[in-house]
Amino acid sequence: MPEQLNDKRQVERLAELRKAIHFHNYRYHVLDDPVISDFEFDRLLAELKEIEAEHPEWVTADSPTQRAGARPAEKFQKVRHPAPILSLANAFSAQDVRAWFERIAKIDERVREANFVIEPKIDGLSVILHYQDGIFVMGATRGDGEVGEDVSNNLRTVHSVPLHIPVEDGMETIPGRLVVRGEIFMNIEDFEELNQRLERAGEKTYLNPRNTAAGSLRQLDPALTATRPLNLLTYQIVESDVPIPNLQWDRLEWLRRLGFPVTRAATVQPDLESAIRECDTWVTRRSMLPFEVDGMVIKINDRALADSLGFVGKDPRGALAYKFPAQEVTTRLRDIGVNVGRTGVLTPYAMLEPVDIGGVIVKQATLHNFDYIAEKDIRVGDRVRVKRAGEVIPYVIGPILDLRDGSEQVYVPPHTCPVCGEAVENIPGEVAWYCVNAACPAQLIRNLEHFVSRGAMDIVGLGIKIVEQLVEAGLVKDAADLFSLKKQDLLRLEGFADKKADNLLESIEASKQQSLERLINALGIHGVGEVTAVDLAARFQDLDELSNATLAQLQEIEGIGPNIARAIVDWFERPANQNVLAKLKRAGVWPRAERAQGMSAGPLALEGLVFVVTGTLPSFSRDVVKAYIQKHGGKVTDSVSKKTSYLVAGEAAGSKLQKAQDLGVPVLDEAGLMKLAEPK
Ligand code: IVH
Repeated sequence: MPEQLNDKRQVERLAELRKAIHFHNYRYHVLDDPVISDFEFDRLLAELKEIEAEHPEWVTADSPTQRAGARPAEKFQKVRHPAPILSLANAFSAQDVRAWFERIAKIDERVREANFVIEPKIDGLSVILHYQDGIFVMGATRGDGEVGEDVSNNLRTVHSVPLHIPVEDGMETIPGRLVVRGEIFMNIEDFEELNQRLERAGEKTYLNPRNTAAGSLRQLDPALTATRPLNLLTYQIVESDVPIPNLQWDRLEWLRRLGFPVTRAATVQPDLESAIRECDTWVTRRSMLPFEVDGMVIKINDRALADSLGFVGKDPRGALAYKFPAQEVTTRLRDIGVNVGRTGVLTPYAMLEPVDIGGVIVKQATLHNFDYIAEKDIRVGDRVRVKRAGEVIPYVIGPILDLRDGSEQVYVPPHTCPVCGEAVENIPGEVAWYCVNAACPAQLIRNLEHFVSRGAMDIVGLGIKIVEQLVEAGLVKDAADLFSLKKQDLLRLEGFADKKADNLLESIEASKQQSLERLINALGIHGVGEVTAVDLAARFQDLDELSNATLAQLQEIEGIGPNIARAIVDWFERPANQNVLAKLKRAGVWPRAERAQGMSAGPLALEGLVFVVTGTLPSFSRDVVKAYIQKHGGKVTDSVSKKTSYLVAGEAAGSKLQKAQDLGVPVLDEAGLMKLAEPK
């Protein structure tokens, strides 16, 4: 095909793909109602990425591929808002709301006939989004209301921020210039998941969804923001160069039709008393919302009337925040307890004098981590401020220093695990303290789950439920016990008949043949995942050699720094872990590295070959396969071209497979790759 014609087709396809991706993104992230599968969506995105990789000059700022593309910033640029970004006056009772109403009715009698829009007051942070000819061009934080910070690249990573409006055809007048205000926030569930993820990684956890959203949006590296599950809801049009509806209710609808996310929890109320009643119903209904709300906003529906009332300081008179009853109280900190999570992390918690927070009696609250206690100087016996926000677990905000009488005790974190009594460890640079005893009962189930999982020993048929049954019945006290299970033990468990017991014992037996890298990964050493396990198995013959490795030897391996090296050495030094190793050896679970020797002798089998890896492979993640190829001398690249020697394809391989076939690049499966890498 002539080059130009080809280009023209690709440009058309590019536009088609972008439009489709914007639309499906909107269905998924704004409407929560996707019409295609994730797989189909990924395929569209992959196709777009491929065209853009070939033609970088065609990439535009509003392309869906640009959501996570930008480089880290040194600092945020300041931007002046086109109009002051106002705040809201607060009311704390129905009386306050009525007093507000009387004040504004005195200014303009028409207020008495007004109706009101009631919206949830989302506990996030305000952002101002600028659109030029339908394209998202800039987004800023509120700042002081006059000047904010340009966080455009971070906002682009938020999937519910439309990069291109309108999302659906059929809107009559599209503004050339449009500035919209909304709230960036994090759903409570996502916040809790994120904190667990941070905790597992030994990083500092966040206090509440609001701080997390603010912290995530203000990261200098947009790639980091992209990993944070942020959301947007819009509620105000700051500026538009086409006429906009006068009623707030119609404005919300107008925004929604353009493709902006707008809350479904808003209502119109015919008069003030119904408005108050509606807000009051949300005191309990708030828990039905996936995000935190700290009150309801009452807005005069007629915006012309509302605006004509003017403002007091930074608060417009035509709207009011009706705050929910306080969720913050003070009480005495009786003692500090310590939980051991399934990841081995020690988490301190406050044992409180019972106290009523918003109708719930609270006796315990989280203290986060030991650094938090030290930073806030929280002492046993202190009077402390405690907050319960939405459905989130209550937490201690800090001590009330003025109420100290000298009897308070400075808290000393434990040196041993409160569950198993073994010494605890801190990894330099990480906040958390860990119990690293593989046989600690608090972590046993999780360790076993990891041990038997697909990327580790891959014991087929041994799922979480059976792991729990085995631990509860006292049959398994560490991973090595799996290999001494007897048929009569299994038959005692609920749901086990002859066949099931035989099958399970067979898969356990078969797993004894797993490779050294799988076993190393299965041990669950902090910081040693699939990739590092491959590296270690390439360097050491077996677990005896690995357990004798020195810090220096370990650090010679690329990708292993001082922290991981220390974690490995420590793990092997622990008597409890040595006991597990001895039992594994006795049971015959003692693989030797298959290829390490051969590799160091002759030339590497994949030397000079270029690979692309795609799709879901049966046993290993793509990262592990890539590391494996490199270990054997091969090179890994991202896109298929004439220079590609082999495409390694798993299930659902998609467009790369197509391209390889078009170019005549040979395709291998996982087993084929292993065979090719064997020393000749
Ligand atoms: S209206 C002049 N509506 O609450 C209009 N604000 O305490 C003022 N907020 O800074 C804003 N949800 O960040 C409005 N549905 C909502 C809101 C909302 C949350 C925030 C906003 C504002 C703060 C005022």
